[in-house]
Amino acid sequence: MYKEKVFEHFTSPRNVGHLENADGTGTVGDPSCGDYLRIYIKVKYHRIVDIKFEIMGCPAAIATSSILTEMVKGMSLDEAWMISDEDVLSALGGLPEHKEHCSNLSTGALKEAINNYVIQGSGNK
Ligand code: FES
Repeated sequence: MYKEKVFEHFTSPRNVGHLENADGTGTVGDPSCGDYLRIYIKVKYHRIVDIKFEIMGCPAAIATSSILTEMVKGMSLDEAWMISDEDVLSALGGLPEHKEHCSNLSTGALKEAINNYVIQGSGNK
């Protein structure tokens, strides 16, 4: 069963949508289930000042993406990079064991977005 916090983030996900003029974008898919997630970040002075996501995914993927965006908003890129799947799971109070892999989408897409920002040469923003 899902914990209350998971249910709350699944039914009222935060920071959903497209971010115009994003500084970095990361997309990750899980071929085993067909779910995918895209994360957009806006960066200022090496901090994530805004973040949004679009997803086609299961309740666990939606909840982990939602809470991840809340966790990293305001963080430095270095701090955000260090967020692990375990951090996300723990912030949600855990997921059923067979759904824990769903958190990989959120951390993976965030890392892709940070990479995309750095590769674009926006590192001095
Ligand atoms: Fe695909 Fe959850 S089942 S991410």
